[in-house]
Amino acid sequence: MSTVPVITIDGPTASGKGTVAVRVGAALGFHVLDSGAMYRLVALSALRSGVAPDDEAALAAVADTLPARFVGDRILLGELDATDLIRAEAVGNLASKVAVFPAVRDALLARQRAFRTAPGLVADGRDMGTVVFPDAPLKVFLTASVESRAWRRHKQLIDKGFSANIDALRQDLAERDARDTQRRNAPLKPAEGAFQLDSSAMPVEDVVGAILGWWAQVQDAAAGVVGSSGDAAAAG
Ligand code: DC
Repeated sequence: MSTVPVITIDGPTASGKGTVAVRVGAALGFHVLDSGAMYRLVALSALRSGVAPDDEAALAAVADTLPARFVGDRILLGELDATDLIRAEAVGNLASKVAVFPAVRDALLARQRAFRTAPGLVADGRDMGTVVFPDAPLKVFLTASVESRAWRRHKQLIDKGFSANIDALRQDLAERDARDTQRRNAPLKPAEGAFQLDSSAMPVEDVVGAILGWWAQVQDAAAGVVGSSGDAAAAG
């Protein structure tokens, strides 16, 4: 088992995980894995090559041979800069559909684990704490109300130059939540022992501060400075 520390941040779409993961990673000097980007790349690649959204074997082949590279803040698919393309709602929705297939998830597992390199990793997604890094010393489950997530996604899309409709977004989020939480394979749920946080009314810096505080506690506990992990916010 790897001794490289991992902080997992799981939660529903548009809960702010991505932004928070990048900031926590920067504060600690850790690498960052946006696992949702991998599922989005599979979806984008399938769309571009005309692979049917219900063809599990073909989608798994796409995932297996995905020419994905993460270079600084750019996400490349072969020679294509896919950084902004993968943020389109159509791609996000298809990502949530292809993510249901076990063969697709298996094909991406080793790639995700390969991000665990020194000095540490912050990994965000749906199953980072439950499946991909179950031995992570700190697991966080970040939620927010559908309403606040819909407005966050609205802003994100407008900022990226996409058009967006708040009612359609609310509906999309609710459908994706249902798909991500109800699928049989690696459903979205808090990992055992995860610290849970509802960020609906919290500025991003407060969320980052809470996670850095938990990280300090976890390290102190590991060093024997304080007792075990007991904290009112822990899911148990
Ligand atoms: O976090 P996101 O919206 O970029 O993720 C897009 C989709 O990818 C999400 O709806 C479900 C899937 N996903 C997953 O199944 N497991 C992950 N660890 C990350 C994302």
